[in-house]
Amino acid sequence: MSTPRIGVVGATGAVGTITLQLLAERRYEHVRAFASARSAGSTVPFGPGTLTVEEATPDALGAGDLDLCLFSVGTSASLELVPPAAEAGALCVDKSSAYRLVDGYPLVVPEVNGERALEALSRHRIVANPNCCTIPLTCVLGPLHEAAGLARARVATYQSVSGAGAQRMQQLQAEEPAAHDLVMDWSWEGDESDEEAKLRAETRKIMELPELPLSATCVRVPVMVGHSEAVWVELERPLSTEAAADLLRAAPGVRVLDLPSFPTPAAAAGTDDVLVGRVRRDTAAENGLALYLSCDNLRKGAALNAIQIAELLLAGAAERAAA
Ligand SMILES: NC(=O)c1ccc[n+]([C@@H]2O[C@H](COP(=O)([O-])OP(=O)(O)OC[C@H]3O[C@@H](n4cnc5c(N)ncnc54)[C@H](OP(=O)(O)O)[C@@H]3O)[C@@H](O)[C@H]2O)c1
Repeated sequence: MSTPRIGVVGATGAVGTITLQLLAERRYEHVRAFASARSAGSTVPFGPGTLTVEEATPDALGAGDLDLCLFSVGTSASLELVPPAAEAGALCVDKSSAYRLVDGYPLVVPEVNGERALEALSRHRIVANPNCCTIPLTCVLGPLHEAAGLARARVATYQSVSGAGAQRMQQLQAEEPAAHDLVMDWSWEGDESDEEAKLRAETRKIMELPELPLSATCVRVPVMVGHSEAVWVELERPLSTEAAADLLRAAPGVRVLDLPSFPTPAAAAGTDDVLVGRVRRDTAAENGLALYLSCDNLRKGAALNAIQIAELLLAGAAERAAA
């Protein structure tokens, strides 16, 4: 499949816009844009030109003329639209929470558990893309766990408004700076937000540590793009801060910044790496380390991670076809 026929579903949204940008940069040619009936007939930028948006319906996506579908719509739209596309033969990567925690559906961060994506090839052809905070967190926890065993983790997030979609970005732009505030705009599961619960459950699934103690406090900040996280980990075995920083320096998709530089959303926005800094001892815990990270939530936190998964699937499918 040298030139896959690709459908970008949710093409008018915050993640869909970046998905189209990344696909054009990677020189994919056969790309179609889909969104709701509201946007059908409008155009979206693609490389030097534009694409006309088609209405995403089960019939249109299930017609059997797409090899790959990248979904960035809400959970209920995904539940309606992903199955017909997959049943018609398309490899599907879904960025909503519809399939993330469902048994049998791989939840993948290529740098951490990329091999899991291939399981979808012999099953339902659907891979789930994790939450935009889970992706950078696991990129950093993965190498630390491999070296010294992860005993527990605590996280405080500082999430940008683009994580809540294109409309929220427009609202922030229109708002007077004096009205900017921190918000916790998630739904609540008891005294925890669903965002906090997702961060724990998804991290456990990706790292295959079903009992990992992990607690989080998630906050949205008046920043346009770029999520940041303060992370405290307790390891099973001692690991010096120098060794931890070296492991992270060698980790794929991670860039370590040394003081006086430190990760910020502005530094992360528009880049592909998870920026990590302030790697230091956490004296409040045995074998404790603290660090700080920032990541472009629309790129590695969503669109880029999904394209990396798709490229694993396309390569895996080509290998199987050639065998
Ligand atoms: N933003 C992030 O950082 C991020 C990160 C990871 C995962 N995600 C997930 O990615 C998904 C999209 O997020 P977003 O931030 O891009 O949201 P968004 O900016 O609000 O965009 C939503 C997109 O979905 C389309 N859509 C909505 N309902 C639809 C329907 N019934 N049928 C077909 N298309 C429909 C919209 O089309 P119209 O323009 O026609 O309404 C739009 O293109 C969500 O599931 C979100 O949880 C987002």
